[in-house]
Amino acid sequence: MTSQLHPDAPVRPRVVLGVGGGIAAYKACEVLRRLTESGHSVRVVPTEGALRFVGAATFEALSGQPVHTGVFEDVPEVPHVRLGQTADLVVVAPATANLIAKAANGLADDLLTNTLLTARCPVLLVPAMHTEMWEHPATRANVALLRSRGVVVAEPASGRLTGKDTGKGRLPEPSEIVELTKLLLARSDALPRDLEGLHVAVSAGGTREPLDPVRFLGNRSSGRQGYALARVAAQRGARVTLVSAHTADLVAPAGVELVGAGSAEELRVAMHEVAKTADVLVMAAAVADFRPVSLTGHKIKKTDRDPEPVALTRNADILAELVEHRRPGQVVVGFAAETGDEGTSVLDYGRAKLKRKGCDLLVVNAVGDGGAFEGEDNAGWLLSADGTEVRIAHGSKAQLGATLWDAVRVLVEP
Ligand code: CTP
Repeated sequence: MTSQLHPDAPVRPRVVLGVGGGIAAYKACEVLRRLTESGHSVRVVPTEGALRFVGAATFEALSGQPVHTGVFEDVPEVPHVRLGQTADLVVVAPATANLIAKAANGLADDLLTNTLLTARCPVLLVPAMHTEMWEHPATRANVALLRSRGVVVAEPASGRLTGKDTGKGRLPEPSEIVELTKLLLARSDALPRDLEGLHVAVSAGGTREPLDPVRFLGNRSSGRQGYALARVAAQRGARVTLVSAHTADLVAPAGVELVGAGSAEELRVAMHEVAKTADVLVMAAAVADFRPVSLTGHKIKKTDRDPEPVALTRNADILAELVEHRRPGQVVVGFAAETGDEGTSVLDYGRAKLKRKGCDLLVVNAVGDGGAFEGEDNAGWLLSADGTEVRIAHGSKAQLGATLWDAVRVLVEP
């Protein structure tokens, strides 16, 4: 299942998409397309600068709505007040240093800045600028002020900037902006800056156990749940190390440190290394329980004889090891993808696994009917070592992530 809205849904969430005057304005087109295709009504409000990068006709065609930059167009509609008042969410991508400064100081000299002043809904600013501008004390102060007022200022990504520069300040990928937008529409309080000062490590994806140079034993994990967890944690202010096994071609979330791990053993080494400093360890990866006993150095050939059975040996249980070696106060979280049977429900299997693994929290998902693996959505239960059980309603993997970080936050509170 995806988190698309039903096309006949009577109320389509109203999103104002502000576009600032930066080269990344072209990525706003992809954000717009994804939002409209998933059933959102999107009104684009660019700045004059944005229209030097992307023409108004492009935004009008993609949104099916008029596009203006000033407050003197369409005056009888009073758009400078109405757009902000009636929006369910205002998202600005890219938000330039100039736009952030204006928003922090309450300036209102065009339609977008007027809309930001009249908005009473959640506001998400997604910055894009050169590293020097992002790190300048003026921008830092403006961002801090906006965040203190409840505006969600996303962490920019690192990577290639305009020209030959690289560094922090890149606009996060459109898919990531859309995920954050949907998360805030579903839960306006999902992104507080409450994980600042914490180092969290999240494992994600499916391990691959090599058989020979071209073959492996793998699993169906897409990595989406782990990546969503990392994304939400980074946007809530945590320092995030994402230990990633194989995934479905996912882009590293903005603001996280990515560590690659192929096999279960590589993931084990990486998690033990990061566990030396991390306050929270989340095992969202699908780790192979067994690996081939021997790794053939050459490609196994087809012969006329019947094939040899593949002998397997057991891999370490990384989660159980992390629990065993944890430092005082360190929080350890596991995931359990379960199928129920006649005698035992998914939840019962989950309860037993929580006890066996000894972790602080266990997220239990039902799999086997197409749920959890590979899809955009998830549902299940959040079980705590203290016996608390919370049902996690069907929603996006980012929503599940927000619920999990809420529970973790309570556990790490002094
Ligand atoms: N896990 C792990 N190391 C393994 C296997 C699993 O750390 N070798 C972790 C997973 O990342 C997950 C949790 O343990 O957080 C539960 O994984 P799951 O596959 O559901 O449980 P298993 O221990 O493998 O038990 P079983 O397959 O028998 O249900």
